[in-house]
Amino acid sequence: MSFLSITAAARRKATLIASISSLLLSCVHGQFIPEIDATYSSTPKPFTLKVNPSFIETTRLKVQLGRIANDMGVPPFTDGISTEMAQTLQNYWVDELNWTSVQEQINKNFTMFTTTVEIDDKNYTEPIPLHFVHHRSPRHDAIPLLFLHGFPGSFLEVGRIISSLTHPPNSSVPAFHVVAPSLPGFGFTPAPVHAGLGPIEAAHAYNALMHQLSYPRYVMQAGDLGAFVTTYQAALHPESVISVLSNLWAPAVNATDLARFEANETTPGETAYIRNITAYQTGGAGYLFLQSTQPLMAGHALTDSPLGFALYIFQLMQELGTFYHWSLSEIITWAMMYIIQGPYPATRFYKEFRNADQIVGADMFGPALFVNVPVGVTQRPQDAGWGVPLDWARRIGNVTAIYVHDFGGHFAAYQTPDTLLDDCWRFWGNKSASGVGKH
Ligand SMILES: *[C@@H]1O[C@H](CO)[C@@H](O)[C@H](O)[C@H]1NC(C)=O
Ligand SMILES: *[C@@H]1O[C@H](CO)[C@@H](O)[C@H](O)[C@H]1NC(C)=O
Ligand SMILES: *[C@@H]1O[C@H](CO)[C@@H](O)[C@H](O)[C@H]1NC(C)=O
Ligand SMILES: *[C@@H]1O[C@H](CO)[C@@H](O)[C@H](O)[C@H]1NC(C)=O
Ligand SMILES: *[C@@H]1O[C@H](CO)[C@@H](O)[C@H](O)[C@H]1NC(C)=O
Ligand SMILES: *[C@@H]1O[C@H](CO)[C@@H](O)[C@H](O)[C@H]1NC(C)=O
Ligand SMILES: *[C@@H]1O[C@H](CO)[C@@H](O)[C@H](O)[C@H]1NC(C)=O
Ligand SMILES: *[C@@H]1O[C@H](CO)[C@@H](O)[C@H](O)[C@H]1NC(C)=O
Ligand SMILES: *[C@@H]1O[C@H](CO)[C@@H](O)[C@H](O)[C@H]1NC(C)=O
Repeated sequence: MSFLSITAAARRKATLIASISSLLLSCVHGQFIPEIDATYSSTPKPFTLKVNPSFIETTRLKVQLGRIANDMGVPPFTDGISTEMAQTLQNYWVDELNWTSVQEQINKNFTMFTTTVEIDDKNYTEPIPLHFVHHRSPRHDAIPLLFLHGFPGSFLEVGRIISSLTHPPNSSVPAFHVVAPSLPGFGFTPAPVHAGLGPIEAAHAYNALMHQLSYPRYVMQAGDLGAFVTTYQAALHPESVISVLSNLWAPAVNATDLARFEANETTPGETAYIRNITAYQTGGAGYLFLQSTQPLMAGHALTDSPLGFALYIFQLMQELGTFYHWSLSEIITWAMMYIIQGPYPATRFYKEFRNADQIVGADMFGPALFVNVPVGVTQRPQDAGWGVPLDWARRIGNVTAIYVHDFGGHFAAYQTPDTLLDDCWRFWGNKSASGVGKH
């Protein structure tokens, strides 16, 4: 090796080290996100996504250097993402991903804002900066709708229903002003500055956001973590939340239910529900137990490896809707909604749910507050809580409608937008659920 090639190699190494240290510095927690240079004022300000290009390049380099596990030949999506799929994703990310184009699409598809809200809560007294999508309908009778995403999703989940909600096909179905915020530590809502911002605090924060936008009365639609926040928000702010349409409604199976199940006394519907929840608990909820108990054990690894994080969430994206084909660009885009600010605070949000006695073991909806406002439940087979018996569904809320679909999975708004839109229109087309419209 000549002297020249040694110095060239040393220079390449120095460049790599410099860009990697800038990546490490960017993971500092605080009420801002260094790589996007956003400000969070006390009133809504327009937000355009513009990620520091050197961060995108460093991320690409880290993906290129990524080391992939040998899957030992188990069938794909059993233990996680296969070696072959991981390599395909790695190659695409290194050679083909065009972040500039993805970012342009996000800015084109969504009108976004940042703001800050204050809540009255002993557990979290700091101001709460928020990122949110806000599209207004031209219809004078439009209903304000707060849409909450979950894990491992983001505000991008609302993208396939938002135009039809604001601009429905005709005046016989309701129209909506849509607000879709990022959960704390997700997307471009900065991580909390300390522990204590859980589902109750988030519920207060989103209610404050709706009031700040001059929507004192509104309806809510959510699945996954957003659905849990929704139950708190509806229970704690019934004067503001008119009604809820939830695509995850999984009341806890209690000791009496389990004893009846073991004694073969449960109805076929109850038996199917218990089997579904139990299968999820024993076979699909590993991420949930880890993230809600000792999240930092995986937190450093997931923060350090963009490829590793994308493969971690891709397994969840795939198993909760095997009918859906995720493109490589989609998988990376969904992962980037965490990677840009660092995925740790979002993964840790589960711990806050556990602290609030939610999502503990089989108790999906733990001892949640009863929701008195009307609740519509919309279900698809490839989702946890499928087939909940109506009387069980009513243990945790005033369920006035259950819409059961024979196709679809966990990400209803994104994967089966048409059936979710129909449910929004029929549930809120009923005056008793929306306060406006027919009937
Ligand atoms: C990436 O996308 C941008 C914006 O659409 C475009 O201008 C640019 O040419 C693309 N780059 C490549 C390498 O295709
Ligand atoms: C933006 O919207 C277009 C058209 O609906 C869609 O094809 C594309 O996937 C969307 N991109 C993102 C990042 O939301
Ligand atoms: C209005 O649109 C809805 C939703 O697409 C549809 O079900 C309904 O038949 C339409 N009504 C009229 C009068 O066109
Ligand atoms: C389980 O729920 C049912 C219905 O609400 C109730 O009758 C029963 O007492 C509960 N059992 C326990 C152990 O909480
Ligand atoms: C319940 O049914 C199963 C299968 O039919 C049977 O093996 C079991 O003994 C039954 N248990 C009770 C408590 O009756
Ligand atoms: C603080 O957190 C605890 C545990 O999650 C919860 O029981 C309590 O209601 C919270 N306090 C307030 C003021 O929200
Ligand atoms: C459920 O909602 C309906 C419609 O608003 C209302 O009339 C009824 O009293 C509510 N029931 C409960 C248990 O809160
Ligand atoms: C039950 O729950 C799981 C989630 O773990 C889901 O993937 C499965 O397809 C569900 N549905 C049925 C009908 O078992
Ligand atoms: C509207 O909702 C009320 C309360 O849940 C229900 O009793 C009624 O049947 C609904 N009307 C229609 C047309 O679905």
